[in-house]
Amino acid sequence: MHTKILLPLLLSFLLLGCTNDTQTRSDFNQTTEPQLSEEEIAELDKEPITSTKLPSLHILPQMSDEDGKSDDATATYTLSANEDVNVTIESPQGSWVTPMWRYNNSPLPLVIRANRGDTMQLVFQNRLHADSTIHSHGFKIPADMDGGPDYPVSADANKTYTFTMNQPAAPLWFHPHPDMQTGKQVYMGLAGVFILEDNITKTLEENKQLPAGEKDTILLVQDRRFGEEKDGVKELLYMNEEDDILGMRGDSILVNGSITPKQEVSNTKHRYRLYNVSNARNYDFALSNESNFTVVGTDGGLLQKPVEVNHILLGAAERVEIIIDFAKYRVGEKLLLLSKPITGEMSTTTGSFNLPIMRFDINKEEQEDIELYAELPDDAEISKRLDPTQANNRGNERDFILSMGMVFTPEGELKNTFSINGKEFKPNRVDEFLGSNVTEIWKIRNDSHMAHPFHAHATQYQVLDRDGTPASGTDLGWKDTFLIQPGETVRIIGKFEDVNKGDYMYHCHILEHEDAGMMGYFRVGSTGHLDDLIFQK
Ligand code: C2O
Ligand code: CU
Ligand code: CU
Repeated sequence: MHTKILLPLLLSFLLLGCTNDTQTRSDFNQTTEPQLSEEEIAELDKEPITSTKLPSLHILPQMSDEDGKSDDATATYTLSANEDVNVTIESPQGSWVTPMWRYNNSPLPLVIRANRGDTMQLVFQNRLHADSTIHSHGFKIPADMDGGPDYPVSADANKTYTFTMNQPAAPLWFHPHPDMQTGKQVYMGLAGVFILEDNITKTLEENKQLPAGEKDTILLVQDRRFGEEKDGVKELLYMNEEDDILGMRGDSILVNGSITPKQEVSNTKHRYRLYNVSNARNYDFALSNESNFTVVGTDGGLLQKPVEVNHILLGAAERVEIIIDFAKYRVGEKLLLLSKPITGEMSTTTGSFNLPIMRFDINKEEQEDIELYAELPDDAEISKRLDPTQANNRGNERDFILSMGMVFTPEGELKNTFSINGKEFKPNRVDEFLGSNVTEIWKIRNDSHMAHPFHAHATQYQVLDRDGTPASGTDLGWKDTFLIQPGETVRIIGKFEDVNKGDYMYHCHILEHEDAGMMGYFRVGSTGHLDDLIFQK
């Protein structure tokens, strides 16, 4: 058999399960992990700590409200998607140019900051040579404004998305969501940050209970694979390796567009909005000295009580807000943010060693003026826990079973399949029907041998339990994306309100799995009309 077929077959065998799992997995690692000595691995961890050549962290550019008034109740923004924007990539080994796809020709991903309660007018100009959309990830908005694949914007067309942002402050984001092309378009560089603020976050910032301004940094983590340098240019490579059925994982980790950048910080508390906006890669973030940091927020907003951790696992599309306290360091000390090896991950580019992400250089002494909040008010919307005994489908929970498989095509080629509840995505089929104004419990089971980040549109959700163990720690936060481990069952709860109308997506946020069919539609507010009953879109 040809290697082109052999490796996917081997991988699929591993992912689908086999009798002697551990044995095969380690064989697999031996043949495909980079062949590094212990010393070389140790050097990989150390080099970015001492190297003085690290590029400086870019601060992502914030767009401004086009009506010129940031304090009225409307926000107007235009995003124009373009191909062939030359972007300079900086790395410890020097810099080069990479042609990318970007909004508004910006070399860096853009940031929109808006207030709860405001109405957004988001004008999308599609200047790509393909259909695209702008999906507002994590928003509670009507389906026709949600930028799913059922509302494509064709090449050279425009669309204005109008919606009211009525949900707690949160680290949200936006990205294209066209049918079967989401992975490619996001990978080429189309994704941005959407920070929603509200009275709670503003009061905490004013009261010095949360770092703000210069001490509030967005960190967008994305991995990429670059080709050989030719005349100072490196092309982005997409899905050109055998094990890319695991999703597109690059070997270079970019933070705000640079590889292993450094940020100079004072010896005080700093707030980071850590976004895993990678197509497929998971990270287990930790500090190089294994010291604790504090998680204050998840996908959907602040945690009622901050949680101390010494690492945090983030699947693709998950976000956390963390506070790192640099108080115990002296000027001149350096600390690395890294991703620890993740058990059960099987990829040539995941590796069995720490991946350096970025470095913090403590460069000045400063008086601390932040005393972190201990608890949010009980009656705040963000503090509420949804009650499973009040769910409309209690006793009859909705199942979502994530699977991977293999079939022979009619041409006799092996093809991997990615499905939910045994079905691959069909653009004209609605898979799940919910009523209006319902609270539902969803039971998501991962039936494959790799972790999948399950994401659902329409609202923010809460974890009830994982394999029967009640949610704790950061799982108590509101979330829209849930990393589900192999064999694991996670129950989540969501409340769908008046604003939720129409057909929304649920899918694996490994974008290549989504594009390959691990996705479905759920309809909120079925009318009971004939077109609903015949399950047609
Ligand atoms: Cu971030 Cu359906 O997407
Ligand atoms: Cu989404
Ligand atoms: Cu997946």
